[in-house]
Amino acid sequence: MSSASQSRRHILVAVAWPYANGPLHLGHVAGAYLPADIFARYHRMAGNRVLMVSGSDQHGTPVTVRAEHEGVPPQEIVDRFHPQFLQLWHELGISFDIFTTTGTPNHAEVVHDVFLRLLEHGYIYKGKTHQFFDAQAGRFLPDRYVEGTCPHCGYEQARGDQCDNCGRTLDPDQLIRPRSRLTGAAPEMRETEHFFFKLSAFQQPLLDWLCGRTGWRKHVLNFSIGFVEEGLHDRAITRDIEWGVPVPVEDLGAGKRMYVWIEALIGYLSASKEWAQGSGEPDAWRAWWEDAAAATYYFIGKDNIPFHTIIWPAILMGYGGLNLPTDVPANQYVTFKGERASKSHGVGEPALGYLERYQPDAVRYALAANLPENSDTDITEAEIIRRNNDELVATWGNLVNRVLAMTHRTFAGRVPPPGALDHRDEALIAGARTMLHQVGEQIEAVHLKAALATAMAFAQEANGYLSDTEPWKAAKSDPARAGTSLYVALCAINALDVALYPFLPFSSQKVHEYLGLSGGIEDAGWEARLPQPGATLGAAEPLFRKFETPEGEARLSA
Ligand code: MF3
Ligand code: ZN
Repeated sequence: MSSASQSRRHILVAVAWPYANGPLHLGHVAGAYLPADIFARYHRMAGNRVLMVSGSDQHGTPVTVRAEHEGVPPQEIVDRFHPQFLQLWHELGISFDIFTTTGTPNHAEVVHDVFLRLLEHGYIYKGKTHQFFDAQAGRFLPDRYVEGTCPHCGYEQARGDQCDNCGRTLDPDQLIRPRSRLTGAAPEMRETEHFFFKLSAFQQPLLDWLCGRTGWRKHVLNFSIGFVEEGLHDRAITRDIEWGVPVPVEDLGAGKRMYVWIEALIGYLSASKEWAQGSGEPDAWRAWWEDAAAATYYFIGKDNIPFHTIIWPAILMGYGGLNLPTDVPANQYVTFKGERASKSHGVGEPALGYLERYQPDAVRYALAANLPENSDTDITEAEIIRRNNDELVATWGNLVNRVLAMTHRTFAGRVPPPGALDHRDEALIAGARTMLHQVGEQIEAVHLKAALATAMAFAQEANGYLSDTEPWKAAKSDPARAGTSLYVALCAINALDVALYPFLPFSSQKVHEYLGLSGGIEDAGWEARLPQPGATLGAAEPLFRKFETPEGEARLSA
């Protein structure tokens, strides 16, 4: 049974909240935002109820470190980058239902509700701990204010919250040879009081849950199970910092805030509630969070895995009554010329820069064809150009343009009657249906790179069909036969346009119009429709531009 014929499902597409401390790079786009968008667009087209949420992660040391470096208040940093994120979503066609921030009153309220419920359930307790203190600066040093050597892998630039090299989450006191980012001095330990989340209580429930997951990416599941098997420790969920969501109980005194990670994860829930408020049905979020039939997918980069497969599920279990992740299809890293694209290390050009040079669908296509689903993947600008020229332009754009131009020329822009179909014709029409079905299944399994390859392989087949049947020759000798070939090719284009829509939303809408179809393509459904003989096609223009390779090479060697 095809997905379209099942009743409408609720699909929550939860996407990692980018720190509002710097511009986003293509690595972030390929890591989380583009795959989430492809998945969301497919499900909307298939008739499911999608809620796609995220927002700017605006608190914690990632933002304050930059603010202090620039000598401005943290809010000024947020106010600079949040609008840039919105602009990127707009230009690249990332179709969030809501992209908010962790700075809203609603978010603080929801964080407080979760905190108080966990406290009530006995999963939060107060305790004394030791934390680094920079005596020269006269301040405690939470998370990213401390750097040092990772105790797990020996990476020397590990941050106090996480090691970028091996992906382990860290507490600052685990670092070997710690140093203060404020003064460079070796910090000293001082006693401080915090709230702790009893993560250790979820060791067995998490292990049972993780071991029951099917269809998850191997690298995600193996990492997560290994992480739990190493033993879960309770974690401090407050910090000595002034920039963050306040702690909802006063026992700790002033100068403490919620730990940014705990608070940001709760953003998935608070953003869903904010969206529901805005929709005029304040309870609408429940269909995605409380109904066990709903499905929840978290699109993240691999450095976020433990937070989404362990800490967040534990919080959800402790809270009770909310859906656990259906899948966490985390991506590996995208590297540019071998270097990881990372905001905190300033590698790679901001994604918005690429959109000044390339059509959004060209960027989407090149990234989608190279998604780092199972291993780190290198992307170069030359690769974007090659994918655009050799595949988008040469295979898909060319198919559309040839068939539309010939139909305009030979049949006055009207869909010719199918006439008598031979086995080649029938095979291509059947192939279109099979392709669409397979692409749908691959997207549902979040094998997005494979889904795109399936669609493009069929576009090649359709081009091969044209070379075989040569309607441009038949137009003179046997117009009926030429009409059949064009009709069949239009069937293939119609199905391909549906299949490619999640990947190429801008150009697919254009093709939809070239085919003479009205309305938004997303409403057309995930179906291979046969063109109506006699229907008038729209005027077609070339879909994609070819890019000059030399410019790309020059840029690469720069
Ligand atoms: N801001 C984090 C990062 O960029 C991701 C947070 S995801 C969240 O790595 F869900 F926890 F917000
Ligand atoms: Zn490490």
